[in-house]
Amino acid sequence: MSLAGQNTPLLREMTVNNERAKRVAETVLVPPQKTRILTISNQKGGVGKTTTAVNLAASLARKGMRVLVIDLDPQGNASTALGVEHHNGVVGSFEVLVDGLAMADAVKQSPEHQNLLCLPATIDLAGAEIEMVGYESREYVLAKSLQEFLASQEHPIHFVFIDSPPSFGLLTVNALVAATEVLVPIQCEYYAPEGVTQLMNNIDRVRKGLNPNLIIGGILLTMFDNRTNLSSDVAEDVRKYFPKETLNATIPRSVRLSEAPSYQQTAISYDPKNSGSLAYQEAAIELAQRGVIR
Ligand SMILES: Nc1ncnc2c1ncn2[C@@H]1O[C@H](COP(=O)(O)OP(=O)(O)OP(=O)(O)O)[C@@H](O)[C@H]1O
Ligand SMILES: [Mg+2]
Repeated sequence: MSLAGQNTPLLREMTVNNERAKRVAETVLVPPQKTRILTISNQKGGVGKTTTAVNLAASLARKGMRVLVIDLDPQGNASTALGVEHHNGVVGSFEVLVDGLAMADAVKQSPEHQNLLCLPATIDLAGAEIEMVGYESREYVLAKSLQEFLASQEHPIHFVFIDSPPSFGLLTVNALVAATEVLVPIQCEYYAPEGVTQLMNNIDRVRKGLNPNLIIGGILLTMFDNRTNLSSDVAEDVRKYFPKETLNATIPRSVRLSEAPSYQQTAISYDPKNSGSLAYQEAAIELAQRGVIR
């Protein structure tokens, strides 16, 4: 049966998504003058940090930006989603942090896109915080290694996304010290304002003590479900308290976003015209176009 001439919700969504995909495809991005280093951070688990890191990275790579994803979570979920091996024996962020291996010797090309690189994380990384306890300047190890890597590149890297674990230990502190910006995903289905306050206090502490240039680069509302009042209430609340920081693009709950990693893919290549993928592509464009907010 043909859908022509019908006005079903599904058809309406397809039409809208085709228009959104067209706008995304037509947008031309200007690379930033200086590498933007964004740490995706929220000490709460399962809020969409990794999904955000890999899908924003893949979106920008497709738009001609050279992008590096640093997987700083022993779960290695970002490496999986980018199709980069991270089994036992693969060198990655652990060797960079603990053994002083040059980042260039551990960074891999992601099969997702030629512009996309990934420093993988293996389960070894779970022991890194203990190994690093006695290190001098242990909070600066990643920052130093990343700066050396960026300086060694023949073609500049435009964006770095650092995926951090759901805790506020030395790995997350290293990620925040290495960053120029923090991007905070907030899950619309469950919102604890005290958690966000605690996160902002932690970021403030890092800024005062270790990285005075660190700014909140953005807040991204994730897992938005337009059928629930809770999602709308959370979104409204977050926008009220962080009007400047919160991105207009909102990430909907979407099965395609959660399915993609099982195919070692980001949703951007798995199903680019899906509402979730489009929302990430729009968020990536917004982040790139608005530059660094002050
Ligand atoms: N917008 C979304 N719609 C549906 N599922 C999602 C969405 N975003 C993330 N997910 C799924 O929710 C789960 C948690 O997401 P994700 O791994 O990105 O969170 P995280 O903050 O990185 O978690 P962790 O704290 O464990 O590192 C994953 O299974 C992911 O596929
Ligand atoms: Mg994660």
